[in-house]
Amino acid sequence: MEKIINLAKNRGFIFPDSEIYGGWANSWDFGPLGVELKNNIKQAWWKRFVQGRLDMVGLETAIIMNPKVWEASGHVDEFTDPLVECKKCHRRSRADELEKGNMCPDCGEKDSLTVPANFNLLFKTFVGPKENDAAVAYLRPETAQGMFVDWPAVLASTRKRLPFGIAQIGKAFRNEITPGNYVFRTREFEQMEIEYFIEPTNWETEFDKWLNEMRNWLTYCGIDSKLVHEVEVAEEDRAFYSKRTVDIELDWPFGQKELYGLAYRGDWDLSMHAKQSGREMNYADTKTGQKFIPHVIEPTFGVERTVLAMLLSAYREEDVRGEKRVVLGLPAWAAPYQVAVLPLSSKPELIEKSRRLAESLTQNNHCDFDTTQSIGKRYRRQDEIGTPFCVTVDFDSLEDHAVTIRDRDTMQQERVVMTRVEGVLRERLKNKGGLK
Ligand code: GAP
Repeated sequence: MEKIINLAKNRGFIFPDSEIYGGWANSWDFGPLGVELKNNIKQAWWKRFVQGRLDMVGLETAIIMNPKVWEASGHVDEFTDPLVECKKCHRRSRADELEKGNMCPDCGEKDSLTVPANFNLLFKTFVGPKENDAAVAYLRPETAQGMFVDWPAVLASTRKRLPFGIAQIGKAFRNEITPGNYVFRTREFEQMEIEYFIEPTNWETEFDKWLNEMRNWLTYCGIDSKLVHEVEVAEEDRAFYSKRTVDIELDWPFGQKELYGLAYRGDWDLSMHAKQSGREMNYADTKTGQKFIPHVIEPTFGVERTVLAMLLSAYREEDVRGEKRVVLGLPAWAAPYQVAVLPLSSKPELIEKSRRLAESLTQNNHCDFDTTQSIGKRYRRQDEIGTPFCVTVDFDSLEDHAVTIRDRDTMQQERVVMTRVEGVLRERLKNKGGLK
């Protein structure tokens, strides 16, 4: 984990937030490379689960919604974690995460913890100029509710028939008691969520289909399947309305913990919103004329946890002729750059020719252009940030109009005429986890 954190900081994937002011605990900024990786993940997810299917539509709802939404969903009353405080060092912890009875995990004092109290994780704010009870609103703790409250509008406007799903990607906020483990648990994070609406009788088949979809996504992301565990959540730990929930957990460096979740939510959310809003949430079956509230399967994915799982899976160290080589073996579609153009020297003609090539390549594949340091150091840097291919322009290129393409993983080099570079790269990238 330390190696990932250092690499991510030094190479521009993830920076500590507000560092010039001493930082801001558990907040992280995505740097120039991190934002590329994150955007590639979100775009690939959207392409796969929304644009790539006929039974899905997308949505973008507000972060600050009508507070009645969170009353109806139960978050205002029940979105809590059990909080305990050490009477000696005053460190606050989650009672459900403590391993050793009534002992403070920080100072080790025995029998020092207060009785657990329910701590609500909603971030409260005030809307408008008055800070009173009537002005209280919340930052959404999940994107899911936006898809439930907009269900009638989506149904009416798209005329979709069951089964179909709504997807949303966006920020969520939780006032976590114990944020930490880098970007694993933060108070501000992004979710990629699907609410898949079905006929109640089909829930088991649809659940299995989505579990399979999630497995395929993990493979596509290059997340090591040996590290992944599908944990059936026991009845006593499930929400009362759920007949089945599977937590997809990962062996993180800090233990086995949740990466994603898949839940069968029945008709709980739509029924609650129907009751509280007085609006109809029914679906009318055109064949039978029957009206009913659909049931829901919810696959949910955290963006930052995906980033971290991919970085951990992709990171490797190799020994190359007695020297350590660090490689981020990201799938080509996810890498911040698919290709880097490296002129061998700073000779103006070489720079000019290389720049023209880089400008043309970056129209289809994100291309880095690096003229600093020795070629060996530049290759190592590109390996560390996961760039699948480097294209080197050398003195011969000025005569034969050919360049050298170097493979990140095999380090093999091949000479290719410049007019063919784009086509060759496209083929090679397909074999490295696929194009964007
Ligand atoms: N709508 C269902 C829902 O929100 P959840 O298990 O509470 O379920 C879904 O959250 C996903 O969001 C998790 O599987 C995880 O990937 C991510 N997530 C939840 N809390 C997080 C946090 N504090 N920091 C980063 N990611 C988080």
